Amino acid sequence: MYNKLTVEDVEVKGKRVLVRCDFNVPLDAEGNITDENRIVGAMPTIEYLVNNGAKVILCSHMGKPKGEPVPSLSLAPVAERLSEKLGKKVVFAADDNVVGENAKAAVAAMNDGDVVLLQNTRYRKEETKNVDEFSQELASLADLFVNDAFGTAHRAHCSNVGVTKYVQPAVAGYLIGKEIDYLGNAVNSPVRPLVAVLGGSKVSSKISVIENLLKKVDKLIIGGGMAYTFFAAQGKTTGTSLLEPDYIDYAKKMLDAAGDKIVLPVDTVITEKFDNDAPAKVVEGDIPDGWMGLDIGPKSIELFKGVLADAKTVVWNGPMGVFEMPNFAKGTNEIAQLLADIDATTIIGGGDSVAAVNQAGLGDKMSHISTGGGASMEFLEGKELPGVVALTDK
Ligand code: 3PG
Repeated sequence: MYNKLTVEDVEVKGKRVLVRCDFNVPLDAEGNITDENRIVGAMPTIEYLVNNGAKVILCSHMGKPKGEPVPSLSLAPVAERLSEKLGKKVVFAADDNVVGENAKAAVAAMNDGDVVLLQNTRYRKEETKNVDEFSQELASLADLFVNDAFGTAHRAHCSNVGVTKYVQPAVAGYLIGKEIDYLGNAVNSPVRPLVAVLGGSKVSSKISVIENLLKKVDKLIIGGGMAYTFFAAQGKTTGTSLLEPDYIDYAKKMLDAAGDKIVLPVDTVITEKFDNDAPAKVVEGDIPDGWMGLDIGPKSIELFKGVLADAKTVVWNGPMGVFEMPNFAKGTNEIAQLLADIDATTIIGGGDSVAAVNQAGLGDKMSHISTGGGASMEFLEGKELPGVVALTDK
């Protein structure tokens, strides 16, 4: 991948290897992991290192503990799950200061192929400020650094960027490589036609993505809550639908500049209340006063399907409606099903669309499901990711 060294370019046997993963996984009230996608994503690098005789020291953040120990954000459940997956004990170094006595003793006692997991790096206030002292402490544990935390690659923190000043080489793991190959090829050298499907609630959070993608795609489908700001730009009424009045002009400019490259819904499922059981109907064009759009309508689904049927590469970010409510999940589910069926490279970029695809049970039918929310968005915006930039050049 890129011009960066990867885990296969360096000798790992007998080395203490610090691996930054993104184990920021959702937990329920009892501390059970409810989605292990990111753990699964990290396994190829961990297994490669274990099988090649490295001493594997894993680290990650979890949530936002704001620089102090928060027991509900401990990585202990991740250590347990990793032990099950690897079929060998992962020693959890439960130091509130992350690089403390437990971590140092555990690392000192490691044999080749052993695995240690450090406590949540964000228990340290220095972490998110990229303060040298904590980067040095992390680096002091290791002979070599591997970054495999794609989900955090858009941050410049001690454990993914600062640490590379003090331990070299700093190389990419398999997950970072895979993410960048899929997302990078899709955006920079796609098999065409390339179609992007954007949804979700806000135009404002996706402006840079829209601008960057419009330069690259053959078609850009826009659905979900953000479509209503584009409706307003077309002069339609939007009732009580989600609307960002400050972005109507922007949407107008986009539509003028992009011509028929942007494909918008032509009908909408509307209700009077934000409630799964509220009576719903379908309208074309204007949304009447007191009514809100919660999903794309049947004609829009057909329109979008027509555009997607010929696609050879599809990038999808953001649901088409309020898919968490079964009565307004049809648009999102139908797009997910179509992507599962078509003969194209299908890339699901982050957050809600990943949840939607998994909710529909179609995760394994997609070419690639990104483990990055913010990171995949910034990638699609065309930005460089600091966590990748910091790695050692080939
Ligand atoms: C994510 O969940 O997107 C990553 O783990 C990064 O988390 P952050 O947004 O708290 O930095």
